[in-house]
Amino acid sequence: MPHASSTIPVASRVGGFSYAIRNIVAEARKVEAAGRKVRYLNIGDPIAFGFRTPPHMIEAVERAMRDGHNGYAPSVGILAAREAVTAECIQRGMPMSPDRVVVTSGTSEGIELALTALAGPGDDVLIPVPTYPLYTAVLAKIGARAVFYRTDQRRGWQPDVDHVRSLITPATRALVVIDPNNPTGASYSVEARRALVELADRHNFPLLADEVYADLAFDGPVSALAALNTDAPVITFSSLSKAYLAPGWRSGWLAVAQTERLDDVLAAIKKLADGRLCSTGPMEHALVAALTGDRSHQQLFRDALRERAALTDARLNAIDGITCVAATAAFYAMPQVQLPPGKTDEDYVLGLLRATGVLCVYGSGFATAPEDGFFRVVFLASPAELSDIYSLMAEFTREFVAGRTR
Ligand SMILES: Cc1ncc(COP(=O)(O)O)c(C=O)c1O
Repeated sequence: MPHASSTIPVASRVGGFSYAIRNIVAEARKVEAAGRKVRYLNIGDPIAFGFRTPPHMIEAVERAMRDGHNGYAPSVGILAAREAVTAECIQRGMPMSPDRVVVTSGTSEGIELALTALAGPGDDVLIPVPTYPLYTAVLAKIGARAVFYRTDQRRGWQPDVDHVRSLITPATRALVVIDPNNPTGASYSVEARRALVELADRHNFPLLADEVYADLAFDGPVSALAALNTDAPVITFSSLSKAYLAPGWRSGWLAVAQTERLDDVLAAIKKLADGRLCSTGPMEHALVAALTGDRSHQQLFRDALRERAALTDARLNAIDGITCVAATAAFYAMPQVQLPPGKTDEDYVLGLLRATGVLCVYGSGFATAPEDGFFRVVFLASPAELSDIYSLMAEFTREFVAGRTR
Protein backbone atom coordinates (compact mmCIF):
# COMPACT_ATOMS: atom_id res chain seq x y z
CA MET A 1 0.00 0.00 0.00
CA PRO A 2 1.37 3.47 -0.86
CA HIS A 3 2.49 5.56 2.09
CA ALA A 4 -0.19 8.05 3.26
CA SER A 5 2.10 11.00 2.59
CA SER A 6 3.26 9.96 -0.92
CA THR A 7 2.27 12.31 -3.74
CA ILE A 8 -1.06 11.63 -5.37
CA PRO A 9 -0.73 10.66 -9.04
CA VAL A 10 -2.42 12.62 -11.85
CA ALA A 11 -4.04 11.12 -14.93
CA SER A 12 -1.59 10.19 -17.70
CA ARG A 13 -3.40 12.41 -20.23
CA VAL A 14 -2.08 15.51 -18.46
CA GLY A 15 1.39 14.58 -19.69
CA GLY A 16 0.31 15.32 -23.26
CA PHE A 17 -1.34 18.61 -22.36
CA SER A 18 0.91 21.58 -22.93
CA TYR A 19 0.23 25.30 -23.34
CA ALA A 20 3.56 27.04 -23.84
CA ILE A 21 2.03 30.54 -24.02
CA ARG A 22 1.24 30.34 -20.31
CA ASN A 23 3.82 27.74 -19.21
CA ILE A 24 6.68 30.06 -20.08
CA VAL A 25 5.42 32.64 -17.57
CA ALA A 26 7.00 30.57 -14.76
CA GLU A 27 10.42 31.36 -16.29
CA ALA A 28 9.52 35.04 -16.55
CA ARG A 29 8.57 35.16 -12.86
CA LYS A 30 12.05 33.89 -11.96
CA VAL A 31 13.61 36.66 -14.03
CA GLU A 32 11.36 39.20 -12.30
CA ALA A 33 12.26 37.81 -8.89
CA ALA A 34 15.90 38.44 -9.79
CA GLY A 35 15.00 42.12 -10.19
CA ARG A 36 14.67 42.51 -13.96
CA LYS A 37 11.62 44.10 -15.62
CA VAL A 38 9.84 41.63 -17.93
CA ARG A 39 8.06 42.74 -21.08
CA TYR A 40 5.34 40.20 -21.72
CA LEU A 41 5.01 39.57 -25.45
CA ASN A 42 3.70 36.07 -24.88
CA ILE A 43 -0.06 36.51 -24.70
CA GLY A 44 -2.47 37.91 -27.26
CA ASP A 45 -4.51 40.10 -24.92
CA PRO A 46 -5.13 43.63 -26.24
CA ILE A 47 -6.39 44.81 -22.83
CA ALA A 48 -2.98 44.15 -21.28
CA PHE A 49 -1.55 46.73 -23.71
CA GLY A 50 -4.03 49.55 -23.10
CA PHE A 51 -6.76 48.81 -25.66
CA ARG A 52 -10.22 49.24 -24.15
CA THR A 53 -13.50 47.33 -24.36
CA PRO A 54 -16.16 49.45 -26.17
CA PRO A 55 -18.35 51.22 -23.53
CA HIS A 56 -21.66 50.12 -25.06
CA MET A 57 -20.69 46.50 -24.44
CA ILE A 58 -19.84 47.20 -20.82
CA GLU A 59 -23.17 49.03 -20.41
CA ALA A 60 -24.99 46.02 -21.84
CA VAL A 61 -23.40 43.72 -19.24
CA GLU A 62 -24.16 46.17 -16.41
CA ARG A 63 -27.75 46.51 -17.56
CA ALA A 64 -28.18 42.75 -17.85
CA MET A 65 -26.92 42.26 -14.31
CA ARG A 66 -29.14 45.03 -12.91
CA ASP A 67 -32.14 43.68 -14.81
CA GLY A 68 -31.65 40.38 -13.04
CA HIS A 69 -30.15 38.28 -15.84
CA ASN A 70 -27.93 36.51 -13.34
CA GLY A 71 -29.40 33.04 -13.50
CA TYR A 72 -28.42 30.18 -15.76
CA ALA A 73 -28.99 30.91 -19.43
CA PRO A 74 -30.19 28.18 -21.81
CA SER A 75 -27.25 25.88 -22.54
CA VAL A 76 -27.21 26.93 -26.23
CA GLY A 77 -27.40 30.62 -25.24
CA ILE A 78 -30.20 33.21 -25.15
CA LEU A 79 -32.20 33.57 -28.35
CA ALA A 80 -31.25 37.25 -28.85
CA ALA A 81 -27.55 36.30 -28.86
CA ARG A 82 -28.10 33.42 -31.26
CA GLU A 83 -30.08 35.71 -33.53
CA ALA A 84 -27.25 38.25 -33.49
CA VAL A 85 -24.73 35.52 -34.40
CA THR A 86 -27.08 34.31 -37.14
CA ALA A 87 -27.24 37.80 -38.67
CA GLU A 88 -23.45 38.05 -38.44
CA CYS A 89 -22.97 34.72 -40.25
CA ILE A 90 -25.42 35.71 -42.99
CA GLN A 91 -23.69 39.05 -43.40
CA ARG A 92 -20.42 37.12 -43.87
CA GLY A 93 -21.99 34.93 -46.55
CA MET A 94 -22.79 31.84 -44.43
CA PRO A 95 -26.49 30.92 -44.42
CA MET A 96 -27.54 30.36 -40.82
CA SER A 97 -30.45 29.99 -38.40
CA PRO A 98 -30.47 30.48 -34.60
CA ASP A 99 -31.06 26.77 -33.94
CA ARG A 100 -27.60 26.00 -35.41
CA VAL A 101 -25.77 28.45 -33.14
CA VAL A 102 -24.35 27.68 -29.69
CA VAL A 103 -23.10 30.48 -27.45
CA THR A 104 -19.86 29.36 -25.82
CA SER A 105 -17.30 30.44 -23.22
CA GLY A 106 -15.02 31.87 -25.87
CA THR A 107 -13.80 30.28 -29.06
CA SER A 108 -11.87 27.90 -26.82
CA GLU A 109 -14.95 26.18 -25.46
CA GLY A 110 -16.50 25.98 -28.92
CA ILE A 111 -13.38 24.24 -30.20
CA GLU A 112 -13.36 21.84 -27.28
CA LEU A 113 -17.05 21.01 -27.69
CA ALA A 114 -16.68 20.37 -31.42
CA LEU A 115 -13.53 18.26 -31.14
CA THR A 116 -15.05 16.26 -28.27
CA ALA A 117 -18.16 15.65 -30.37
CA LEU A 118 -16.11 14.56 -33.38
CA ALA A 119 -13.00 12.66 -32.38
CA GLY A 120 -11.65 10.15 -29.88
CA PRO A 121 -8.96 7.47 -29.65
CA GLY A 122 -8.06 6.15 -33.11
CA ASP A 123 -9.26 9.29 -34.87
CA ASP A 124 -7.13 11.88 -36.68
CA VAL A 125 -7.65 15.62 -36.82
CA LEU A 126 -5.70 17.66 -39.37
CA ILE A 127 -4.23 20.78 -37.85
CA PRO A 128 -1.83 23.40 -39.20
CA VAL A 129 1.78 23.70 -38.11
CA PRO A 130 2.55 26.10 -36.62
CA THR A 131 -0.68 25.75 -34.69
CA TYR A 132 -2.53 27.54 -31.94
CA PRO A 133 -1.69 25.22 -29.02
CA LEU A 134 -5.23 24.75 -27.75
CA TYR A 135 -5.78 22.28 -30.60
CA THR A 136 -2.96 19.93 -29.62
CA ALA A 137 -3.89 20.32 -25.96
CA VAL A 138 -7.55 19.35 -26.50
CA LEU A 139 -6.61 16.48 -28.78
CA ALA A 140 -4.25 15.15 -26.11
CA LYS A 141 -7.09 15.38 -23.61
CA ILE A 142 -9.64 13.51 -25.73
CA GLY A 143 -7.10 10.95 -26.95
CA ALA A 144 -7.34 11.76 -30.67
CA ARG A 145 -4.28 12.22 -32.86
CA ALA A 146 -3.10 15.57 -34.21
CA VAL A 147 -1.90 15.17 -37.81
CA PHE A 148 0.03 18.26 -38.87
CA TYR A 149 -0.18 19.92 -42.26
CA ARG A 150 2.39 22.47 -43.35
CA THR A 151 1.82 26.14 -43.71
CA ASP A 152 4.71 27.52 -45.66
CA GLN A 153 6.84 30.43 -44.50
CA ARG A 154 8.39 30.80 -47.98
CA ARG A 155 4.91 31.44 -49.38
CA GLY A 156 3.79 33.93 -46.75
CA TRP A 157 2.64 31.16 -44.40
CA GLN A 158 -0.04 29.96 -46.80
CA PRO A 159 -1.34 26.42 -46.17
CA ASP A 160 0.17 23.65 -48.30
CA VAL A 161 -3.05 22.23 -49.72
CA ASP A 162 -1.29 19.29 -51.44
CA HIS A 163 0.17 18.31 -48.09
CA VAL A 164 -3.29 18.45 -46.49
CA ARG A 165 -4.64 16.24 -49.28
CA SER A 166 -1.83 13.70 -48.81
CA LEU A 167 -2.68 13.30 -45.11
CA ILE A 168 -6.36 12.43 -45.54
CA THR A 169 -7.21 8.83 -44.56
CA PRO A 170 -10.38 7.02 -43.43
CA ALA A 171 -9.38 8.01 -39.86
CA THR A 172 -9.60 11.76 -40.63
CA ARG A 173 -12.44 13.25 -38.58
CA ALA A 174 -11.92 16.99 -39.07
CA LEU A 175 -9.74 19.66 -40.66
CA VAL A 176 -8.84 22.72 -38.58
CA VAL A 177 -8.22 25.98 -40.43
CA ILE A 178 -7.14 29.11 -38.53
CA ASP A 179 -7.62 32.06 -40.86
CA PRO A 180 -6.47 34.76 -40.17
CA ASN A 181 -3.80 32.89 -38.31
CA ASN A 182 -2.27 32.81 -34.89
CA PRO A 183 0.75 32.45 -34.58
CA THR A 184 1.80 33.59 -38.09
CA GLY A 185 -0.35 36.70 -38.67
CA ALA A 186 -1.19 35.40 -42.17
CA SER A 187 -4.52 35.58 -43.92
CA TYR A 188 -5.05 32.91 -46.55
CA SER A 189 -5.51 33.37 -50.29
CA VAL A 190 -8.96 32.77 -51.79
CA GLU A 191 -7.53 29.84 -53.77
CA ALA A 192 -6.20 28.14 -50.64
CA ARG A 193 -9.42 28.82 -48.75
CA ARG A 194 -11.52 27.43 -51.57
CA ALA A 195 -9.34 24.32 -51.92
CA LEU A 196 -9.58 23.55 -48.19
CA VAL A 197 -13.37 23.88 -48.17
CA GLU A 198 -13.58 21.62 -51.23
CA LEU A 199 -11.49 18.94 -49.48
CA ALA A 200 -13.87 18.93 -46.52
CA ASP A 201 -16.86 18.81 -48.86
CA ARG A 202 -15.52 16.01 -51.06
CA HIS A 203 -14.13 13.84 -48.25
CA ASN A 204 -17.10 14.50 -45.99
CA PHE A 205 -15.42 15.65 -42.79
CA PRO A 206 -16.08 18.93 -41.02
CA LEU A 207 -13.84 21.92 -41.59
CA LEU A 208 -13.47 23.68 -38.24
CA ALA A 209 -13.02 27.32 -39.19
CA ASP A 210 -11.34 29.28 -36.39
CA GLU A 211 -12.31 32.79 -37.47
CA VAL A 212 -11.58 34.63 -34.24
CA TYR A 213 -9.40 37.14 -36.16
CA ALA A 214 -11.75 37.58 -39.15
CA ASP A 215 -12.36 41.26 -38.35
CA LEU A 216 -8.68 41.96 -37.77
CA ALA A 217 -7.28 41.56 -41.28
CA PHE A 218 -5.65 44.93 -41.94
CA ASP A 219 -7.54 45.40 -45.21
CA GLY A 220 -10.90 44.83 -43.50
CA PRO A 221 -13.03 41.89 -42.35
CA VAL A 222 -12.69 38.63 -44.30
CA SER A 223 -15.78 36.68 -45.30
CA ALA A 224 -16.66 33.34 -43.71
CA LEU A 225 -14.82 30.29 -45.09
CA ALA A 226 -18.26 28.67 -45.31
CA ALA A 227 -19.33 31.37 -47.79
CA LEU A 228 -17.12 29.73 -50.46
CA ASN A 229 -19.33 26.64 -50.57
CA THR A 230 -22.53 26.88 -48.59
CA ASP A 231 -23.19 23.11 -48.89
CA ALA A 232 -19.85 22.18 -47.34
CA PRO A 233 -19.68 20.80 -43.79
CA VAL A 234 -18.16 23.81 -42.04
CA ILE A 235 -18.39 24.83 -38.39
CA THR A 236 -17.31 28.40 -37.67
CA PHE A 237 -15.98 29.69 -34.33
CA SER A 238 -15.42 33.18 -33.00
CA SER A 239 -15.76 35.35 -29.91
CA LEU A 240 -15.68 38.79 -28.32
CA SER A 241 -12.07 38.23 -27.22
CA LYS A 242 -10.08 39.83 -30.01
CA ALA A 243 -12.07 42.03 -32.40
CA TYR A 244 -14.39 43.19 -29.58
CA LEU A 245 -11.66 43.63 -26.99
CA ALA A 246 -13.22 41.56 -24.20
CA PRO A 247 -11.10 38.40 -23.77
CA GLY A 248 -11.77 38.08 -20.04
CA TRP A 249 -15.51 37.83 -20.57
CA ARG A 250 -15.17 34.36 -22.09
CA SER A 251 -17.95 35.00 -24.55
CA GLY A 252 -18.06 33.43 -27.99
CA TRP A 253 -20.02 31.24 -30.34
CA LEU A 254 -20.00 28.41 -32.83
CA ALA A 255 -22.29 28.08 -35.83
CA VAL A 256 -22.88 24.86 -37.77
CA ALA A 257 -23.43 25.08 -41.54
CA GLN A 258 -26.89 24.29 -42.84
CA THR A 259 -26.21 20.86 -44.24
CA GLU A 260 -27.98 17.73 -42.99
CA ARG A 261 -24.58 16.06 -42.95
CA LEU A 262 -23.80 18.01 -39.78
CA ASP A 263 -27.10 17.43 -37.97
CA ASP A 264 -25.80 14.61 -35.74
CA VAL A 265 -22.67 16.61 -34.92
CA LEU A 266 -24.84 19.61 -33.99
CA ALA A 267 -26.99 17.41 -31.75
CA ALA A 268 -23.86 15.97 -30.10
CA ILE A 269 -22.44 19.46 -29.49
CA LYS A 270 -25.73 20.56 -27.89
CA LYS A 271 -25.78 17.44 -25.72
CA LEU A 272 -22.25 18.20 -24.50
CA ALA A 273 -23.19 21.86 -23.99
CA ASP A 274 -26.04 20.79 -21.69
CA GLY A 275 -23.46 19.27 -19.37
CA ARG A 276 -21.69 22.56 -18.71
CA LEU A 277 -25.02 24.39 -18.16
CA CYS A 278 -24.34 27.67 -20.02
CA SER A 279 -21.78 30.29 -20.97
CA THR A 280 -21.44 33.48 -18.88
CA GLY A 281 -25.02 34.85 -18.81
CA PRO A 282 -24.69 38.66 -18.60
CA MET A 283 -22.05 38.59 -21.34
CA GLU A 284 -24.53 36.97 -23.72
CA HIS A 285 -26.35 40.32 -23.62
CA ALA A 286 -23.11 42.07 -24.51
CA LEU A 287 -22.77 39.74 -27.45
CA VAL A 288 -26.01 41.22 -28.82
CA ALA A 289 -24.73 44.77 -28.19
CA ALA A 290 -21.40 43.95 -29.86
CA LEU A 291 -22.74 42.30 -33.00
CA THR A 292 -25.63 44.71 -33.58
CA GLY A 293 -23.98 47.92 -32.31
CA ASP A 294 -21.25 50.39 -33.18
CA ARG A 295 -18.05 48.78 -34.54
CA SER A 296 -16.03 51.92 -35.11
CA HIS A 297 -13.42 50.69 -32.61
CA GLN A 298 -12.48 47.96 -35.08
CA GLN A 299 -11.17 50.35 -37.73
CA LEU A 300 -9.06 52.13 -35.11
CA PHE A 301 -7.77 48.80 -33.86
CA ARG A 302 -6.92 47.57 -37.37
CA ASP A 303 -5.05 50.82 -38.10
CA ALA A 304 -3.08 50.46 -34.86
CA LEU A 305 -2.22 46.87 -35.73
CA ARG A 306 -1.17 47.71 -39.27
CA GLU A 307 1.28 50.31 -37.96
CA ARG A 308 2.75 47.84 -35.45
CA ALA A 309 2.99 45.09 -38.08
CA ALA A 310 4.94 47.39 -40.41
CA LEU A 311 7.31 48.36 -37.59
CA THR A 312 7.77 44.70 -36.66
CA ASP A 313 8.49 43.71 -40.25
CA ALA A 314 11.04 46.52 -40.74
CA ARG A 315 12.86 46.15 -37.43
CA LEU A 316 13.03 42.34 -37.26
CA ASN A 317 14.17 41.91 -40.86
CA ALA A 318 16.91 44.46 -40.20
CA ILE A 319 18.44 42.13 -37.60
CA ASP A 320 21.24 39.93 -38.95
CA GLY A 321 20.20 36.31 -38.45
CA ILE A 322 16.43 36.95 -38.30
CA THR A 323 13.90 36.69 -41.12
CA CYS A 324 10.23 37.46 -40.69
CA VAL A 325 7.16 37.30 -42.92
CA ALA A 326 5.13 40.51 -42.59
CA ALA A 327 1.79 39.95 -40.87
CA THR A 328 -1.36 40.89 -42.77
CA ALA A 329 -3.78 40.34 -39.89
CA ALA A 330 -4.09 40.04 -36.11
CA PHE A 331 -1.20 40.90 -33.77
CA TYR A 332 1.33 38.14 -34.26
CA ALA A 333 4.48 37.50 -36.23
CA MET A 334 6.53 34.32 -36.40
CA PRO A 335 10.17 35.24 -37.07
CA GLN A 336 12.94 32.70 -37.61
CA VAL A 337 16.36 33.03 -36.03
CA GLN A 338 19.48 31.34 -37.32
CA LEU A 339 20.47 28.97 -34.53
CA PRO A 340 24.11 28.21 -33.73
CA PRO A 341 24.85 24.44 -33.88
CA GLY A 342 23.18 22.47 -31.09
CA LYS A 343 20.83 25.30 -30.02
CA THR A 344 17.02 25.23 -30.05
CA ASP A 345 14.26 27.80 -30.33
CA GLU A 346 13.77 27.48 -26.57
CA ASP A 347 17.44 28.32 -25.96
CA TYR A 348 16.97 31.52 -27.96
CA VAL A 349 13.73 32.54 -26.22
CA LEU A 350 14.99 31.78 -22.71
CA GLY A 351 18.32 33.46 -23.45
CA LEU A 352 16.49 36.55 -24.70
CA LEU A 353 14.29 36.57 -21.60
CA ARG A 354 17.19 36.26 -19.18
CA ALA A 355 19.39 38.78 -20.96
CA THR A 356 16.77 41.45 -21.79
CA GLY A 357 13.49 40.68 -19.98
CA VAL A 358 11.69 40.31 -23.34
CA LEU A 359 9.34 37.33 -23.23
CA CYS A 360 8.30 35.64 -26.50
CA VAL A 361 7.12 32.08 -27.04
CA TYR A 362 9.34 29.49 -28.77
CA GLY A 363 8.04 27.99 -32.00
CA SER A 364 8.00 24.47 -30.62
CA GLY A 365 5.17 25.66 -28.34
CA PHE A 366 3.24 25.91 -31.63
CA ALA A 367 4.54 22.53 -32.86
CA THR A 368 7.36 23.71 -35.14
CA ALA A 369 10.66 21.77 -34.89
CA PRO A 370 12.91 23.12 -32.08
CA GLU A 371 15.91 23.24 -34.45
CA ASP A 372 14.02 25.45 -36.94
CA GLY A 373 14.44 28.50 -34.72
CA PHE A 374 10.96 30.00 -34.91
CA PHE A 375 9.47 32.15 -32.18
CA ARG A 376 6.29 34.19 -31.86
CA VAL A 377 6.08 37.89 -31.21
CA VAL A 378 2.88 39.59 -30.02
CA PHE A 379 3.08 43.16 -31.32
CA LEU A 380 0.34 44.83 -29.27
CA ALA A 381 2.68 47.13 -27.31
CA SER A 382 2.94 50.80 -28.33
CA PRO A 383 5.22 51.55 -31.30
CA ALA A 384 7.67 53.30 -28.95
CA GLU A 385 7.85 50.31 -26.64
CA LEU A 386 8.08 47.88 -29.55
CA SER A 387 10.94 49.91 -30.91
CA ASP A 388 12.82 49.55 -27.59
CA ILE A 389 12.05 45.85 -27.51
CA TYR A 390 13.35 45.29 -31.04
CA SER A 391 16.57 47.14 -30.15
CA LEU A 392 17.08 44.79 -27.20
CA MET A 393 16.33 41.85 -29.45
CA ALA A 394 18.85 43.02 -32.06
CA GLU A 395 21.58 43.34 -29.43
CA PHE A 396 20.93 39.91 -27.95
CA THR A 397 20.54 38.21 -31.35
CA ARG A 398 23.92 39.52 -32.51
CA GLU A 399 25.58 37.78 -29.55
CA PHE A 400 23.42 34.66 -29.80
CA VAL A 401 23.94 34.05 -33.51
CA ALA A 402 27.69 34.48 -33.04
CA GLY A 403 27.55 31.81 -30.32
CA ARG A 404 28.65 34.26 -27.62
CA THR A 405 25.74 33.60 -25.24
CA ARG A 406 25.61 30.78 -22.73
C1 LIG B 1 -6.51 31.07 -33.14
C2 LIG B 1 -7.15 31.22 -31.82
N1 LIG B 1 -8.23 30.51 -31.54
C3 LIG B 1 -8.85 30.61 -30.36
C4 LIG B 1 -8.38 31.45 -29.37
C5 LIG B 1 -9.10 31.49 -28.05
O1 LIG B 1 -9.94 32.58 -28.04
P1 LIG B 1 -11.11 32.80 -26.98
O2 LIG B 1 -10.64 33.83 -26.03
O3 LIG B 1 -12.25 33.25 -27.81
O4 LIG B 1 -11.37 31.49 -26.31
C6 LIG B 1 -7.26 32.23 -29.60
C7 LIG B 1 -6.71 33.11 -28.55
O5 LIG B 1 -5.60 33.59 -28.61
C8 LIG B 1 -6.63 32.11 -30.86
O6 LIG B 1 -5.55 32.82 -31.15
